[in-house]
Amino acid sequence: MSSELTVIVLAAGGGTRMKSKTMKVLHPLAGRSMIGHVLAAAHALEPQQVVAVVGHQREAVGAHIHQAFPDVVLAVQEDQLGTGHAVRMAVEAAGTSAGTVLVAYGDTPLLSGESLREFVAEHDAAERAVSILSGIVADPFGYGRVLRNDEGDVESIVEEKDATREQREVREINSGILAFDAAFLGSALPRIGNDNAKGEYYLTDTIAIAREDGLTVGAHPVDDVMQTEGVNDRVQLARLGAELNRRIVEGWMRAGVTVMDPATTWIDADVVLGGDVTILPGTQLLGATVVGEDAVIGPDTTLKDCEIGPGARVVRAHGELAVIGAEASVGPFSYLRPGATLGVKGKIGAFVEVKNSTIGEGAKVPHLSYVGDADIGEGTNIGAGTIFANYDGVEKHRTRIGRHAKTASNNTFVAPVEIGDGAGTGAGAVVRRDVPPGALAVSSGPQRNIDEWALRKRAGTPQARAAEEALTGRPDAERDVAES
Ligand code: UD1
Ligand code: MG
Repeated sequence: MSSELTVIVLAAGGGTRMKSKTMKVLHPLAGRSMIGHVLAAAHALEPQQVVAVVGHQREAVGAHIHQAFPDVVLAVQEDQLGTGHAVRMAVEAAGTSAGTVLVAYGDTPLLSGESLREFVAEHDAAERAVSILSGIVADPFGYGRVLRNDEGDVESIVEEKDATREQREVREINSGILAFDAAFLGSALPRIGNDNAKGEYYLTDTIAIAREDGLTVGAHPVDDVMQTEGVNDRVQLARLGAELNRRIVEGWMRAGVTVMDPATTWIDADVVLGGDVTILPGTQLLGATVVGEDAVIGPDTTLKDCEIGPGARVVRAHGELAVIGAEASVGPFSYLRPGATLGVKGKIGAFVEVKNSTIGEGAKVPHLSYVGDADIGEGTNIGAGTIFANYDGVEKHRTRIGRHAKTASNNTFVAPVEIGDGAGTGAGAVVRRDVPPGALAVSSGPQRNIDEWALRKRAGTPQARAAEEALTGRPDAERDVAES
């Protein structure tokens, strides 16, 4: 890479066609903002400096950039007077005077660091004043056209609105990505005028300026045109988002992940998958999710910022900020909320919601339960339909259950409460007091049957008639029911 490289990313424009409160470059695709993708590609070049030009909603855009890439220098362009003016603001803010300057836009999310690296290497090797990353497209409408002379040498770029009908026929377009010799750029920027159809300072005028100075310019057509495609509205956002996802999913398949249905699988750019992971249809792996080798995820599962251990199985689950141990099993229909942690070979079963709780190695919560603010020891089994009552209406409290405890069905643990190692509970227990190790807690009193209660308290109802029929052996009930 060139010894001194500065990358300038332009992001001052309004993006009005998005029709959004949110600035265009902050809209996400594959779990990163549009400008986040571009800045990641820029950083792949390991440049000396990255400068972002902000204008519209500069507080929001600036704060976002600062958080994701604290090293990026922000240059403010108060009024959007054109790309030439924007680059001038960047050069002044960064004090760039030597080396190579690469200019890109903040709204081209498919741009790869590899393409940029090739482009800059070619520019540096050719020792040009300016290089254009161009593209040959079927419909060049709206783009600046790359004009060449009879020898095929690049002469200038003409913008759509300033082009003659003949020039508009040219299908080689300016992608917007340009590489400059910094010294030339410094001398050219003050010479750009705004006497054109838009009354803007066009960065593209630098091409003709270089030619007038007798310097070398050139264009390098990009093979993968989508890499330089910009997003202007939400239709393009979805189209490029789907294409980006297609590329990410394909990359993982080539790396050894089985994806049964790429069309319904969504994987964010920062997700990491191990070898021989299997992803079943309808699965979204989002944010910084990490999945260990041999794990099987899906179908119909969404995991955001989760860590799934090797060999784990997650079926029809929704999870966020949860950690699932190796060979553990989750689902179907489980809800993993932040702080849910499941140990090695543990189980979170059907219709179970877990929040801010640790479930130990080999421990199981198999059916229909809410586990909130709990610590469950290794090898413990929680009965079906258990509620960890963690909230007293004012504060949250924790429940602690020891190792190898066996709690029965339909229990309520009223926190704060502690159940010792090897302890147990009876069915339907409401546990309000601590249970010592090895003890059995029963809280529902001995059963008492109130004879013929239904006959007295529910007289005239099908319930009472059914009871009477059973008690007397007379089939009266059927006739009475038909009459009523
Ligand atoms: C620009 C190019 C055109 C190229 C096309 C590719 C110029 C004069 N024209 O045209 O040759 O084919 O991009 O998409 O450069 N911006 C600022 N400040 C400004 C103006 C623009 O930061 O004052 C930013 C915008 O936010 C955007 C980028 O620069 O990210 C391009 O601006 P835009 O107005 O879209 O330029 P085009 O007319 O599309
Ligand atoms: Mg544009």
